[in-house]
Amino acid sequence: MWLSSALCSALAVLGSAANPLTRRTALDDCLIAAQVPVDAPGTADWEADARAFNQRLQYTPAAIAVPTTVEHIRAAVSCAAKIGVKVNPKSGGHSYASFGLGGENGHLVVQLDRMNNVTLNNATHIATVQPGARLGHVATLLYQQGKRAFSHGTCPGVGVAGHALHGGFGFSSHTYGLALDWIAGATVVLANGSVVEASESENQELFWALRGAGSNFGIVASFRFKTFPAPPELTTYEVNLPWRNASAMVAGWASLQDWLSTGGMPKEMNMRLLGNGYQTVLQGMYHGNSTALRTAIQPLLTRLNSTLSNVEQSDWMGAFSHYSYSRTIDITGPYNQTETFYSKSLVTPALPPSVLQNVADYWVQKARRNSRSWYIIVDMYGGPNSAITRMPANATSFAYRDPVQNLFLYQFYDRTMWGSYPSDGFSFLDDWVKSFTDGLNATQWGMYINYADPRMNRTLAQDVYYRQGLHRLSQLKKQFDPAELFYYPQAIEPATA
Ligand SMILES: Cc1cc2nc3c(=O)[nH]c(=O)nc-3n(C[C@H](O)[C@H](O)[C@H](O)COP(=O)(O)OP(=O)(O)OC[C@H]3O[C@@H](n4cnc5c(N)ncnc54)[C@H](O)[C@@H]3O)c2cc1C
Ligand SMILES: *[C@@H]1O[C@H](CO)[C@@H](O)[C@H](O)[C@H]1NC(C)=O
Ligand SMILES: *[C@@H]1O[C@H](CO)[C@@H](O)[C@H](O)[C@H]1NC(C)=O
Ligand SMILES: *[C@@H]1O[C@H](CO)[C@@H](O)[C@H](O)[C@H]1NC(C)=O
Ligand SMILES: *[C@@H]1O[C@H](CO)[C@@H](O)[C@H](O)[C@H]1NC(C)=O
Ligand SMILES: *[C@@H]1O[C@H](CO)[C@@H](O)[C@H](O)[C@H]1NC(C)=O
Ligand SMILES: *[C@@H]1O[C@H](CO)[C@@H](O)[C@H](O)[C@H]1NC(C)=O
Ligand SMILES: *[C@@H]1O[C@H](CO)[C@@H](O)[C@H](O)[C@H]1NC(C)=O
Ligand SMILES: *[C@@H]1O[C@H](CO)[C@@H](O)[C@H](O)[C@H]1NC(C)=O
Ligand SMILES: *[C@@H]1O[C@H](CO)[C@@H](O)[C@H](O)[C@H]1NC(C)=O
Ligand SMILES: *[C@@H]1O[C@H](CO)[C@@H](O)[C@H](O)[C@H]1NC(C)=O
Repeated sequence: MWLSSALCSALAVLGSAANPLTRRTALDDCLIAAQVPVDAPGTADWEADARAFNQRLQYTPAAIAVPTTVEHIRAAVSCAAKIGVKVNPKSGGHSYASFGLGGENGHLVVQLDRMNNVTLNNATHIATVQPGARLGHVATLLYQQGKRAFSHGTCPGVGVAGHALHGGFGFSSHTYGLALDWIAGATVVLANGSVVEASESENQELFWALRGAGSNFGIVASFRFKTFPAPPELTTYEVNLPWRNASAMVAGWASLQDWLSTGGMPKEMNMRLLGNGYQTVLQGMYHGNSTALRTAIQPLLTRLNSTLSNVEQSDWMGAFSHYSYSRTIDITGPYNQTETFYSKSLVTPALPPSVLQNVADYWVQKARRNSRSWYIIVDMYGGPNSAITRMPANATSFAYRDPVQNLFLYQFYDRTMWGSYPSDGFSFLDDWVKSFTDGLNATQWGMYINYADPRMNRTLAQDVYYRQGLHRLSQLKKQFDPAELFYYPQAIEPATA
């Protein structure tokens, strides 16, 4: 599903970066004096580390540090502060908006993917995870070292840091919560160069802020994750949705959301709706065997008048690889797949009938007639049995913890397989999102920064990503990073009062 495409050709343009040459030289000199490993411009390492996953948003760093120790990270941050260059950590580099590159030219990029150790403590079941580990590597090592796991997304190349610091939803989240719910502690390099611990017992305010808005407060140099025993039996499955026209979609969606919001979906079940130009299908992972799945899902099948397909029972790694769309699961180090795309997100409650009608009309009449390579994913996110929405709303800075208001999480994605993204492409997804939000109150929906949409201005972006937590986050931004060293175009602004 994730196809690699042409290599970036715009990497040799270091000379056109926004920062003056002298400042870049001073930064290089500082990094070298502090013995921080760096990529030399023009080398294969520089090209790999500077290459944006989203080729629509390629930016040129002022320098790329490639630390292998916490001290290297600390020294790199100090150099950036001293020279006056913005700095951003880059873990797996999968930000949809290239925020790991700073979201604009001229930043110091701290490329973390060489720091990817995963060490499970068999006695406490706590895993120490370095910040540049990719999800497939994390899952593989936790399983190898003690058959343990935590919940996270599906793509093995995604970095654990960006993912877990801003949410982290996947096929175990209805059962076990978001990736961020499994963070037990973090070692953080702050803007002033100090290195602190954050957990329930140390720097609690920082710990609260990191779990939802981590990119704004420092560079996490090491994580401690809680783990659960990897379930011995999981069952992946699909349900084809016979939604050939808008009225069938309206009726089917109404049944689905009624089932979800009234507790029809048991805790063990995980599910998403995938729509593209070829199919509209439910895909899921049941934490249990196939017999138990068949029993648990029958009420939904009856409501939808549909049947199960592709039922496959396997173990934890088998189920993970089923949805990884990748031959290799244990991925470390530089990564060279890219796409050229625009993406948007949404979080909504159950849709009222008028909204549902608008959504179905747009989907059937506009999206299905668009021949580009688009897809939509609707995650069965909330409802009474969701582990995500059972967390107290203020336990972390992550905004979406209400089982009723946050029933669905959506991702809209439109890519080109070759060439640049068309300028008339944006309105396709913007209008699709409007078909949902037009009939909802502004306070009833939100967006997810792990599917960042950089076309929103900073004011709107902060509001829709952080909602009720924004006020406290901006106070903490003022405390931890008043000069906005960790800046990107949608970063949280420090409070002015
Ligand atoms: C192919 C693909 C599949 C995906 N699947 C899922 C999915 O199933 N579920 C889901 O929820 N999301 C998914 N995502 C979205 C993904 O979770 C986010 O893009 C995530 O932020 C990527 O993290 P990263 O470390 O790879 O990215 P990066 O671009 O390296 O980082 C993202 C952000 O985190 C910051 N950051 C990175 N490291 C640190 C650190 N150590 N300390 C502080 N801040 C840091 C960066 O500065 C940047 O702002 C997917 C994305 C892609 C491209
Ligand atoms: C990471 O793992 C490698 C190989 O096992 C080891 O040499 C190195 O010391 C580890 N680093 C840390 C910080 O644990
Ligand atoms: C941890 O426990 C598993 C079994 O649960 C065992 O296979 C593994 O060797 C142990 N690892 C260490 C480092 O003790
Ligand atoms: C929509 O499709 C259903 C079957 O999927 C069919 O029964 C119904 O007549 C169709 N409605 C319209 C308006 O075409
Ligand atoms: C499937 O799991 C259930 C428990 O959820 C158990 O009672 C049943 O025996 C299992 N069936 C098989 C065939 O393993
Ligand atoms: C259910 O689906 C079957 C087979 O697709 C079809 O014959 C039947 O009419 C459908 N029933 C309803 C109530 O839609
Ligand atoms: C991408 O990485 C793979 C695996 O490391 C390698 O085989 C391939 O040649 C690389 N492709 C490019 C274009 O660099
Ligand atoms: C959450 O709110 C409750 C009740 O207002 C309060 O007691 C608690 O301290 C808050 N927790 C955090 C982490 O802010
Ligand atoms: C939006 O808010 C208004 C006023 O609070 C309320 O009357 C209306 O029902 C709300 N709309 C929805 C869709 O909830
Ligand atoms: C940000 O965008 C929103 C929506 O387009 C708009 O209403 C608002 O005026 C903009 N704010 C600023 C500060 O530009
Ligand atoms: C660095 O910032 C933190 C958080 O604001 C503060 O607690 C600490 O005292 C500062 N350290 C130094 C050396 O200024």
